[in-house]
Amino acid sequence: MIDYDIPGFTDKNDLLILEEFASKVPENGIVVEIGSCVGRSAYVLASTVASSVQVYCYNTWWVDDQPNLDAYVGDQTWQESYGSVDTSIESRNLLSIFETNMKQRGITNVIPMHQESPPEDFPFGEVDLIFIDGDHEFDGVYADVDFWYPRLSQNGVICGHDYCQHFPGVKKAVHLMAEKYNREVEIMNKTTIWRFAGN
Ligand SMILES: C[S@@+](CC[C@H](N)C(=O)[O-])C[C@H]1O[C@@H](n2cnc3c(N)ncnc32)[C@H](O)[C@@H]1O
Repeated sequence: MIDYDIPGFTDKNDLLILEEFASKVPENGIVVEIGSCVGRSAYVLASTVASSVQVYCYNTWWVDDQPNLDAYVGDQTWQESYGSVDTSIESRNLLSIFETNMKQRGITNVIPMHQESPPEDFPFGEVDLIFIDGDHEFDGVYADVDFWYPRLSQNGVICGHDYCQHFPGVKKAVHLMAEKYNREVEIMNKTTIWRFAGN
């Protein structure tokens, strides 16, 4: 389900693709999202999968750790497209906003993680869907794909956001990782979502 009342950085086409990926996650499966912000994409993932699926959400939950957020939320065009984020001092902890957004919508299968990605370990099992939308610099994306790809289940999907000119590091890292793991990169129609083709 898509809910534009949750502010976010993902648009309708992105969310429809995430919905499609999430609809294929098996019962009792595992989803990992890196970069949840206040929950726009997490809500689509969590509301689409079966309630037996756990959705682990990694984020830097403190607004002040997000160098570009104040610039984005102050931008009128951005606000018109994506809604406004309250950055008053009371609202600088994104985790409480994220948790409220999930709770208000009856979502109980998200697990906010209190580390940045990549973590030191992920001891919860193989992952059926990985969505990477956290650190957008080359080193961060490279490290994320390198950590998470080997944790995919056999038919699992790894994908990410912002494969575009604005984020050259994302494009470069995704291609180098595809080369390393002998996979093809596919860009999903009308979006900046990449995935390793095949699954
Ligand atoms: C573009 S936003 C995510 C948008 C979200 N997917 C949506 O639908 O609105 C990226 C988020 O990733 C977080 N982030 C950046 N680096 C991270 C890292 N290494 N681990 C986890 N989260 C990270 C940022 O703090 C920010 O909240």
